[in-house]
Amino acid sequence: MHFHYDVPGDDFSCAGSTSAEMKKKLKQLGIPFDIVKRTAVAMYEAEINMVVHAGGGEADIDILDDEIVIVMKDHGKGIADIEQAMQEGFSTAPQLVQELGFGAGMGLPNMKRNSDFMTIDSKVGVGTTVTMRIKLSASGAGVKNDVGVSGASGAADVAAPGVAQGGG
Ligand SMILES: Nc1ncnc2c1ncn2[C@@H]1O[C@H](COP(=O)(O)OP(=O)(O)OP(=O)(O)O)[C@@H](O)[C@H]1O
Ligand SMILES: [Mg+2]
Repeated sequence: MHFHYDVPGDDFSCAGSTSAEMKKKLKQLGIPFDIVKRTAVAMYEAEINMVVHAGGGEADIDILDDEIVIVMKDHGKGIADIEQAMQEGFSTAPQLVQELGFGAGMGLPNMKRNSDFMTIDSKVGVGTTVTMRIKLSASGAGVKNDVGVSGASGAADVAAPGVAQGGG
């Protein structure tokens, strides 16, 4: 099942509506609440980043047999140093955006925490694509993997396929 959304970049007042819509759809499909919650949070943060830092973009969500794949793509300014951007507390959000309550530098870490697998592909001046995968199987839920990065920073894409580590 595939869903596609355009995320407008010029309207703060409706930022978050795409992830809210997706959350509703997932609930209707009977996806377990924990998975719905994690998907909604991960998607919300990516959506807000698109609006705040990249002038909007597109969201593509695939619901597969064993996982939800979220691809958030924009043609914004890109991220120069992905490792730095991933640090909790790092933010380049301007004053105006901070006054609206964004810019704590917690979005990307939160996306990583809520997905089983995440890659960021970004090039300065070209744009950013964030791909997140959330496993539908109980054994996969909560398994966190390192973020693979690629792009202008020169870091290699080191993303490994999600490996479930059974808790016993
Ligand atoms: N889609 C994007 N395009 C360009 N830069 C981005 C994008 N997403 C994130 N960044 C950069 O990475 C930084 C960290 O992002 P993160 O979401 O963690 O924090 P934030 O958006 O600044 O604050 P918060 O998410 O807590 O409101 C941003 O400040 C910005 O510099
Ligand atoms: Mg953010």
